[in-house]
Formats: sequence, structure tokens, C-alpha cells
Amino acid sequence: MDNKQPKSILFVDDEESILSVSSEYFQRQGYRTLTAKSGVEALKILEHQSVDCCFTDINMPEMNGLELAEKIRIADNTMPVIVMTGFPSLENTIQTIKNGVVDFLIKPVNLKQMELSVQRVIQQRKLFVENVLLKKEVESKRRLEKLNQELLYKVEELNILNKIMSKFEAISSSTDVFKRAVDMALDMVDADLTNFYVINETIQEPVEVSFAAAGQRRGSTASLASEIVPGMPRTLHLESPETFKSALIMEVVSDQIPLLIAENPGTNGLPRNINSAMIVPLKIRETVFGVLTAFVIQGTKRFAEKDLYYLSFLAQSAAHAIENLALYENIYENLFATLYAFVKAVEARDLYTQQHSSRVTGLSLILGQHLGCSKEELDTLNFAGHLHDIGKIGIRDDILLKPGRLTSEEFEKIKDHPVIGANILEQLGLWEQERHIIRCHHERFDGSGYPDGIKHRKIPFLARILSVADVYDAMASDRAYRKKMEDEVIIKIINEGVGTQFDPDVVAAFNKAYKEGEISQYMETGKIN
Ligand SMILES: [Fe+2]
Repeated sequence: MDNKQPKSILFVDDEESILSVSSEYFQRQGYRTLTAKSGVEALKILEHQSVDCCFTDINMPEMNGLELAEKIRIADNTMPVIVMTGFPSLENTIQTIKNGVVDFLIKPVNLKQMELSVQRVIQQRKLFVENVLLKKEVESKRRLEKLNQELLYKVEELNILNKIMSKFEAISSSTDVFKRAVDMALDMVDADLTNFYVINETIQEPVEVSFAAAGQRRGSTASLASEIVPGMPRTLHLESPETFKSALIMEVVSDQIPLLIAENPGTNGLPRNINSAMIVPLKIRETVFGVLTAFVIQGTKRFAEKDLYYLSFLAQSAAHAIENLALYENIYENLFATLYAFVKAVEARDLYTQQHSSRVTGLSLILGQHLGCSKEELDTLNFAGHLHDIGKIGIRDDILLKPGRLTSEEFEKIKDHPVIGANILEQLGLWEQERHIIRCHHERFDGSGYPDGIKHRKIPFLARILSVADVYDAMASDRAYRKKMEDEVIIKIINEGVGTQFDPDVVAAFNKAYKEGEISQYMETGKIN
């Protein structure tokens, strides 16, 4: 508040003489004065003028001084109002204080007394206003701090949520999702133990599929069921497994609402050594198929709403990941089935090549096993084997089904089928590795094959396997232009091709499998040991 500016005082009184005397006196003291003959007039002045202090008589027609004080207080609670009355009463005094009047002067009022009162109330007002401003500043500072805190919390939350989502991207199997969910849950909510249960539909019971324990090894329950995890209460499931599983988990499964037991009361079926617990459902299209659980077993940590929120988000992300995997696997299988139907259609055109792709696949798998292929490689072989000749769909029947020898021109056409096959898969944008194997299944080890004439290790290993299986089956089955060949002759031809047409390692594996009778048995029964 600027002290150099003259303070303005408003005098309200229905007695003209009092107004003029007071006004004159205060002007001489350096104040700016305003006068009103009634409360109504005073309020009008206050609407447009800046006033530092108001003197008012109590007994006035229309609106008395106390009513005026009340109205002023409502409009501006920092405005000091001093009332003057000739007949003070207890009732009036109390009312005056209630109405926020800061001083009370008894008539006849001494002008000097009025001046002292003005000085005091203006000083008080200054302090009051400063105080209000200060308070506002403190408040806004506090609010800022709170907002800042909220912001930090939101950023942290966003980071955690992002972390959850990115961890579930690029996951290729449901087992991975289960494992990752328990690991992440353990770190995220600072639990001692987390478990993933899948709900068995037939027996309506939760089956634990993975767990993670703080500071211990993590894994799938099946492989660890008999192990004792030091320091960790696997007794969790032993103490009251039925109550625990059936009552709590199935309750969450049926009402689909996440459960938080911040402090274990020891009466709800939870073993007493559990201090705090959370159980959240995993839903795919409104159906619960599993639950994620988290427990605090030692220490002072207790789960809070925030932890439940994170765990629920994690569970939902895991559910999405599983749903996507299921969808993907479904699409993948459908597409494969469609493509294989094409292959069957091609084979059906030629009586002699029926089941060729299926047999080549079986033989490739036998060789792959002998050569120590991984499960993923065998899956790839299975896929590529079934579809290796899919490109023949693009070859005209009169060439494809021609009995007898092909002209070199016709043979050139036939030679297009690995490229056509690879292109079909390329258009689907899937199965890059399989596509490459299909393209290379007629390459020869010494580089004299087609379509690219690549050699040795440039030819994918699985294509080198497929090549031996393909040639063996072609010779071991009847064709339009010849009868099937004798096994001894075929073995001889294949071994003559070592290093030129075939990879020596693959032929070695073939010889071994043949000696062990696996090849003949497969050709007769269609079954692999
Ligand atoms: Fe082929």
C-alpha cells in the first residue's frame, strides 16, 4: 500500500453538520474525504471510489450503520468500518463485532479520537492486507509444490506404464508373458512373492504357471515345485492352499475386481505369515482367464491403492499380450492352412506327387533331428517343407504334368517355381526365413543349382537339408515318366552328390538315419520315431 497517497475516508451520517465538520477536519490533516447521507449512498460511492476507511452512524433511516457495515464486509472484507453511536448497548456492540466493524466510538465524538482511530485501523488494514497476500503466496507456493509433486508422480506413473507396455511387446509365447508378468510385478510393487495363476475351466481352480520371489531364482512352477526356495515361504500354498486358492482367488475371478489386503487380518484364509496381499484378474473380452498375485512376507512394506493400480495395469497389459499372441497364432495357422491347401491342390493335379510335400517334410525333420536342429529350426523346416513347392501353382499344367522328358524351355519354366513360391510368401510379408529356404531348395552345394547359383554356407542350412529330402522322395516314389527307384540306387546317387549337389554333413546324417531304418520306416508308415 502506497503511504504517499492521501488516505480516503468515507463519512456516513444523516446529520449534515457532522459530515461537514468531520470532512473539514480530516482534509486539514491531509486526508481525502467523501461523504454520504445514507447507507445506500455510501454503497454507491464504494462501488466507484477507492476508500481506506469508513465512519458510519448507527441510527440512520433506510439502512442503519450495522447493516451498512455488513454489506461492506461482504463486498470487501479488508475495509475497516468504524461506527459511532450516541446510545451504545450490549446488543449493538455484539452485532457490531459480528459485522466486522473494527472500532466503536461513542457520540459526541472528539475529532482527535476519530483521527487516532483512523490511524490505527488503517495500519491494521495494511497489516491485514499484507497478511492475506502473504497467506495467498504461501498457499500458491504450497499448491505449486503439490502440483509439482503430482506432476512427478504422473511422470513416474507414465514411465512405469510405458515400461509395462514395452516389456510385453515383442514377446513370442504365452509362457514368456507369464514369466515377465511375475518378474515385473515383483520389482514394480516391491513384493516378496508374485505368482501367475491360470484358471482351469474344467475344474474351476487356479493353476500356478509362474512365480517370482525377491532375491531368489524365478521360474515356472512346474520345474520348481519340489525345490525348496531358501528363506521363502513356499509354505504359502501348503499352509491353507484350499482356502487361499478357492476362497480368495476364485472370489476375484468371479467378481472380476482387483483385491487389496493392505494389512492381513489373518481371518480371510490368507496364511498369517503374509503381511499384505494383492490379487488382480486378467481378462480377455470380459472373461477372466487368470490372476496375478503379489505378497509381502517380510519387512514393513504394505501395499497401497497405487500398487494395486500398477498391478492391475500390468495384469491387463499381460492379458492384451496374450490375446494378441492368440490372435497372431490363429491368423498364422489360418494362413498356413490356406497356403497348404494350395500345395495340396497342386499335388492333387498330379497323382504321382500326392503327399510329396508332406513326405519331404517328414524326411527333413528326421535329418534335422540327426543334425541337432533346435525346436525353432524344426518348426521352420516343418513349415518350409510343407510349402516348398507352392510355387508350382504358377506353372502350367501341360508342363507340370507332362509325362516323359521336358524340353529345355519347359525345364526353364519349372525352374521358376522356387522364386514364385518365395514371392507368394513375400507378398504376405511373413516368414522371411522360411521364404529364403523355399527359394533355395534347388540350389546345389557347389553353386550349380538354381535360381541364384549360390553355394556352400551361402545356401541356408535348412535348405540344404530340404534338398536331400526332396531328391530322395522324388526318386523313391513313382512318377508319371518312371517307376520309383530301388533304395540301393538312390543311396548311391545321393552319396555321389556329396560336395557337388549335397552338403556332406547332411548326407552323413541321411546315411546314419537310413542305416538305423528310420527312413524306410517313415516311408512305409508315415511316422517319425
Ligand atoms: Fe521343388
